[in-house]
This record gives sequence, C-alpha cells and structure tokens, in this order.
Amino acid sequence: MAEAVALYSVKGGVGKTASVVNLAALSAARGRKTLLWDLDPQGAASWYLQADENRKGTAKKLLKPKSAAAGITPSAIKNLWVLPTRQDQHHLEHLLAEKKDSGFRVAKVLDGLLDEFEEIWIDTPPGLSLLADNVLRASDMILVPIVPTHLSLRTWHQLKAHLMSARIKPGNVSAFLTMVDRRRILHRNFAEKHRSELPELLEPQIPYASLIEQMGDTRMPSVLTNARHPASRAYMSLWRAIEQHFS
Ligand SMILES: Nc1ncnc2c1ncn2[C@@H]1O[C@H](COP(=O)(O)OP(=O)(O)OP(=O)(O)O)[C@@H](O)[C@H]1O
Ligand SMILES: [Mg+2]
Repeated sequence: MAEAVALYSVKGGVGKTASVVNLAALSAARGRKTLLWDLDPQGAASWYLQADENRKGTAKKLLKPKSAAAGITPSAIKNLWVLPTRQDQHHLEHLLAEKKDSGFRVAKVLDGLLDEFEEIWIDTPPGLSLLADNVLRASDMILVPIVPTHLSLRTWHQLKAHLMSARIKPGNVSAFLTMVDRRRILHRNFAEKHRSELPELLEPQIPYASLIEQMGDTRMPSVLTNARHPASRAYMSLWRAIEQHFS
C-alpha cells in the first residue's frame, strides 16, 4: 500500500527539510517510486533537489488532483520525483480557506497522487495553520523532528494539544531527536529525561553534523554524498524504524 509521511513541526528550523530530503532519497535508493511534495513556500526541499527551476503553474493548481499531478517533475535522483513549490505558494492558505472542503483538500489531492507513487514524503512550513491541519489529517504518518531543547519539546506538547482540541487523528504521530550534540550534557541526557513524556519518540537520533549543512553546497541529499557518515547511518536507521511501522 502506498504511504504518505509528512515532516512537520510547530517550531521552525528543527530539521524538517534536511530530514525529508534524506528520507525520501533513501526510499528512492531502495527502488521505491517516490514523490517529495514540497508544501513549504520557502521551497528549500525543491531547491535541494534541484527541482525549483521546473515549477509550473500557480498555487491554485495544487488544490486539484489532476493539475497538481501535472506539476510533478523528475529530480536529479533516480526514482525520486518532486512536486515543487509555486512562486505564489504563500497564497495557498487563503486559497484553501475559500474551498468548501477546506480542511480536506490536501487529502483529496494526496489520494490521487498515491495511485501513482509508492511513497510520498511531504515537507511543510512550521506553525499551526489550515494547511498544517490539512496535512495532519491527510498523512499516514506525521514525523516530528525535536531538537533537544525545552522550547522544542514545548512545541511537541502544543501539537499534541492541538490535535486533541481540533479532533484530528492522523494515522500515526512519531518524533525523533535531531541536531544532537553528544558533547553537550543536556543533549546526551535529553532522551532519557523526557522519554516518559515522549512515548512516540523513535529510537534513532540524528547527530549534529556539518555534512548536513553542506547540502546547501552540493544540492544533493547527504545520505547519497556520504553514505558511511554517522549522520547518514542515523538517517538509515530512522528510515528503517519508519518502514517497520508500515510493515
Ligand atoms: N543534523 C543536523 N546537523 C547540523 N545542521 C543541521 C542538521 N539538520 C539540519 N541542519 C541545519 O539546520 C538548519 C535548519 O534545518 P532545516 O531547514 O532542515 O529546518 P526546517 O525545520 O525545515 O526549517 P523551517 O521551519 O524554516 O522550514 C539548516 O541550515 C540545516 O542545514
Ligand atoms: Mg523547512
């Protein structure tokens, strides 16, 4: 069965884009027909995958299954396609609000795309919004990167409270620690200290690594430029943990 996994967090700058690009690349490397849907107007995932020059049409086209599919473009990586951001994608929130089924539009489009792809990875902008609610409803898994800080953990609890109050029940909500600096005591102890609050925390942790920052230079997923690096191995372990959930 085809699956859709969204990288999402209320907090910005926690590694959603770096993670979704790497995880999608790992799916593609496994031979899965994979799509990365870049729903963030910043367009960073499209840019990393060298798909930002190929964007066709306006944001309006993203709200209908057929016209959304027409915007899909191949990436530089075998088996990996991208639905890149549109130039006017910051309007998407308003466009959604005008629709009768405004809370379920992404689900509708995703249903159509899941007929064509084995896996769909979604990059999202930070924050709570109508678009976020759409994605939270539509995805089979919501994957939340948490940086080992109190503020990051706080936004995890905000998300859980929001899901409850808005009565949104995603297929699965999981979290993982990222940008973990083993030299820092706070980081080393974070998972142990907060595990009881975080039963959804997956075991693999992504270390803080300049290899990941260098993706800005290479514009290639770091798991492909250096597969043996500890950060790439950590993404591989995370990918397996996610796969296990679906098997
Ligand atoms: N494991 C890591 N080690 C070191 N740097 C990282 C790591 N993960 C991400 N970064 C860097 O941290 C910054 C933020 O990462 P990223 O853009 O993936 O976050 P984001 O959650 O997608 O941000 P936004 O909310 O703005 O979309 C980037 O400069 C990225 O290169
Ligand atoms: Mg991002």
